[in-house]
Amino acid sequence: MCGIFGVVARDERLLGELLVEAGRRLAYRGYDSVGCATVADDGTVDLRKDVGRVDDVNERLRLAELRGRRGMVQLRWATFGAPSHENAQPHLDSDGDLVGAHNGNIVNNVQLREAFLAEGMTVRGTNDGESCVHAVERYVDRGHPMEEAVRLATRDLEGDYAFVIGSIDDDTLYAVKQGSGLAAGLGDDATYISSDLPSLLPLTQRVVRLEDGEMVILRWDRVEIRRIEDGVPVERAPETVEWDVEAAQKGGHAHFMLKEIHEQPRRARDLLHYLEASTEVAGFLEEIRTARRLYLVGCGTSYHACLLGAASLNRLAGIPAVAALAPQFRETLAHTLSPRDVVVWVSQSGETKDVLSALKGARGTGARMLGVLNVIGSSLMHACDRYLPLVCGYETSVPATKTFLNQALLFMWLADRLRHGGTPIRWEGFPELIEETLRTTSAGVDTIADLLAPLAESYTLGYGLTLGIALEGALKLKEVTYIHCEGMLSSEFKHGPLSAVHEGYPVLFVCAPGDAPMVVSHVSEVTCRGGVAVAVAAPDALLAANVHHLIQLPQAEPEVTALLAVLPLQLASYQLSVRLGIDPDFPRNLSKTLTVD
Ligand code: G6P
Repeated sequence: MCGIFGVVARDERLLGELLVEAGRRLAYRGYDSVGCATVADDGTVDLRKDVGRVDDVNERLRLAELRGRRGMVQLRWATFGAPSHENAQPHLDSDGDLVGAHNGNIVNNVQLREAFLAEGMTVRGTNDGESCVHAVERYVDRGHPMEEAVRLATRDLEGDYAFVIGSIDDDTLYAVKQGSGLAAGLGDDATYISSDLPSLLPLTQRVVRLEDGEMVILRWDRVEIRRIEDGVPVERAPETVEWDVEAAQKGGHAHFMLKEIHEQPRRARDLLHYLEASTEVAGFLEEIRTARRLYLVGCGTSYHACLLGAASLNRLAGIPAVAALAPQFRETLAHTLSPRDVVVWVSQSGETKDVLSALKGARGTGARMLGVLNVIGSSLMHACDRYLPLVCGYETSVPATKTFLNQALLFMWLADRLRHGGTPIRWEGFPELIEETLRTTSAGVDTIADLLAPLAESYTLGYGLTLGIALEGALKLKEVTYIHCEGMLSSEFKHGPLSAVHEGYPVLFVCAPGDAPMVVSHVSEVTCRGGVAVAVAAPDALLAANVHHLIQLPQAEPEVTALLAVLPLQLASYQLSVRLGIDPDFPRNLSKTLTVD
């Protein structure tokens, strides 16, 4: 999973700053290494790359000073080959006549490298992006024109990927989309290609989205699409996409993560308005209501929202919805699907490979495929029969915050609409409750941060509705503080993990109204062994009497309380991350959008 970006300009110029800027925008996709290459009119290739983040590498190698007419930048999230100078992209072919970079996985990389070496090529590293370049080299050496060589090369490359490549012998860039995202942009005096559409928008809002099995030839004044299979031209008019300028700025906050946490009241309000007004919602509700079996499927944070969604549909609407992790769903429950079943695929990016592969595998079963996603135009949006958007705006920080809240909110709202009896939830005051919680839990957030700072591990426990929140709270801590925090069902803790507890060991409990009588037993199992219990819950005398610290949420319905409980956990993770000197927007080893298996 990486980011690629390319540009073809009308004339030779300073391209470095533009490439560095594009690199910064793509950095959320990977930051193990970064590299830029430009090709000047005289055919000189200037390639500068190294391990590290964009700004560090720029400072060391002065990427911003690169000149040329064509250029590319690549941000790497390492899969094949350790993060190193050799494995950093872009890569050259044997003679330095071709330069290219990829995103995705070439699964036959090892066999290809052996073949390239046997054919006498110079293979410098072990990264699969280099194999894309040598695959093209192979056909150029056999006398094929560049466009044909690129098409033929894709027959040798197995996996899901996108790549961009240029030759010193023409004034063009070529790019291929085979399973990973790719979009082209049309500017006034340049064209662009990127693995991520929003990264194009500060440069141009006129874009052309590519589809799998297509290649694009970029000249400074036009882009031409061809089918990879047979080279037949594809006509596709550019579309104009709006650019959310605000999303690109931190708005006075030190990090995007904090900005996005504080955006939640507004984003929740936007989603509630959308759900009330959109004509799409009725059809979505009907599919869920009439499903024979209903599955909510996602990965990472989105899976945690699925857990909350399934719990709400079970409890409020009596619908036996089941939450599942996408790859495991693909290997198990997907085998049981039939036409009257419904699968709701949940993904912030709409590009997560684990999700898209599971969906693809389930397609032939006749089950209905629904989506819940944030990125309009994403692969998931196209792959689904119908979808609902999260209306969150662009989420920049690698740890998901506002999209999690809206994912869970969306499912709770749907469950509430389908409820059997009981009093409907008063959603109209929900955004204000988020504001109140962010304001009033700051002391509690400090307590969590103080308790966890000296430790290397902890547990976050939930019960019933709040299991998804406990898992999500633990994931946020792991992601941005590198402290090992495990989320689990509080009743399971006694079945083994309790052995971790010793004097002063902190355990966080997330508790929804009504669950306290059960949860205090789980609390006592910890405190009687010297552990320190912190609860995140609405005011509750029983709980208050049993825990060391109670982080109080506003009084509300159980579903609303559960949602609010994630806020102090997000804030505590953020605060601790900053205290530990970590950049929460770019935690080590992670990537916001994982387009590999
Ligand atoms: C990556 C991100 C996580 C995210 C997960 C699923 O692992 O780092 O933050 O939850 O992918 O992403 P999705 O875009 O499908 O929600």
